[in-house]
Amino acid sequence: MAARVNIGILGAGTVGSAVHDLIAAGHLARFGVDAEVVKVFTRTPQGKPRYETSPELFTTDATEVTRHPDVDIVVEVLAAGGAEDLRIQKEWVVDALRHGKSVATANKALLVAHGAEIWTTARESGRAVRFEACVAGGIPIISPLTQSLSAERPAAVYGLLNGTSNYILTEMSQHGRSYEDALASAQALGYAEADPDADVSGRDAEAKLLLLSSITFGTRLQPGAIHRKGIERIHAIDFLYAARKGRSTIKSVALARSVDGALEAMVTPMIVPERHPIAGIDGVTNAVFFKGQVSDGGASEGDDWDYVFAGPGAGGGATAVAVLGDVHELTARSGDTPFLPVESIVSEVDSVLPEDELRASFYVRFVVRDQSGIVGDICQVFGEKQINVAEIWQLEHGADELESLLGAGAGGVAPEEILPFVITLEQTNVGQLRQALARIAQKDYVLAEPLWLPIWKA
Ligand code: HSE
Repeated sequence: MAARVNIGILGAGTVGSAVHDLIAAGHLARFGVDAEVVKVFTRTPQGKPRYETSPELFTTDATEVTRHPDVDIVVEVLAAGGAEDLRIQKEWVVDALRHGKSVATANKALLVAHGAEIWTTARESGRAVRFEACVAGGIPIISPLTQSLSAERPAAVYGLLNGTSNYILTEMSQHGRSYEDALASAQALGYAEADPDADVSGRDAEAKLLLLSSITFGTRLQPGAIHRKGIERIHAIDFLYAARKGRSTIKSVALARSVDGALEAMVTPMIVPERHPIAGIDGVTNAVFFKGQVSDGGASEGDDWDYVFAGPGAGGGATAVAVLGDVHELTARSGDTPFLPVESIVSEVDSVLPEDELRASFYVRFVVRDQSGIVGDICQVFGEKQINVAEIWQLEHGADELESLLGAGAGGVAPEEILPFVITLEQTNVGQLRQALARIAQKDYVLAEPLWLPIWKA
């Protein structure tokens, strides 16, 4: 006999409507789940799908969902907002749990900001909170990491967690498009957050990485605690230089790994060799790689023994599929088994490496006013900081390319005077590199802030 489940939805935007559509189309029925949406909260019901035909389904009072006597599961798919929005959303989730509902949420910012209170309330109420849709859109990753792979001992979790950034970098790399042009397409295609700055600055990927790190390494980190760099300053010429670095490309990588018991975590564009599978994950596709020490046993250094999860990481449909998976799971468990008390995961790491102590080889792209002696001068500064220079590359560029490197700041500098070049550095730490670059920034030949990116290490 089919299990009957009534759903209340908080939010009627792209994801909320997609969830509603899937449920109404009976997508869970073939697995014996007879689901129905009985109430939808939105601040502005007018104009929303179904409002014309079924206005009684809608409410502008969220407690009519969180306290609805017939609702079993609350689906929370509200747009992420500022701190006050998150506080109100947290109150609604807590209210739903206290009223005996289980919750499926797609709101990563909510869990990062208020996870502790939400997990405590879930445990006290004997209800479950699931959040598969919070990380990497439609890709199942929370369930695999917390269930299927729970016998693993985590070594690293990393990947491409922002579809918008991956789409933009892919378009720039493969079609030579400008950053601005590719961003406009990502917005038009509905991949970007309402505020696309959250995507391109790495904040969206940071929130997802913090969730992955919490279930993998037991960390409790807030945004701002890890090294984060956006893709805004990547230029088309960087792909030309990256291609010279042992055939590499540039990917916005989110990475958390255990290094001698400390957590090394960052979200940053990186120079990634094309032979690594992460380099081939293009477009809006997300990917999560997980390295476990149990399966890695005996593998020699550098061998790829990672679990790989890849798929659609953005868009209403993919996110809704993940939410429906959670609804299915909650129904199968009758919602009375508190799933994943994240707060109880034992920490696998003792500390988080401070940003300045992150170690890597680096790619540094300079833009200077051409004159003799510059490379020697820069290398001298690196030498004084005990930073070893690995390679120096200088390519020919067209006038348009050179001018676009300086953007609005190009005024008064003729294209033939603008000189970009790249220096790669052997292993050093971020603190040393920053000190050297701060000294170089004072030189009068520097036309733009140098762009520095870590080079992928196995
Ligand atoms: N805007 C996000 C992305 C999708 O581009 O990946 C939802 O997290």
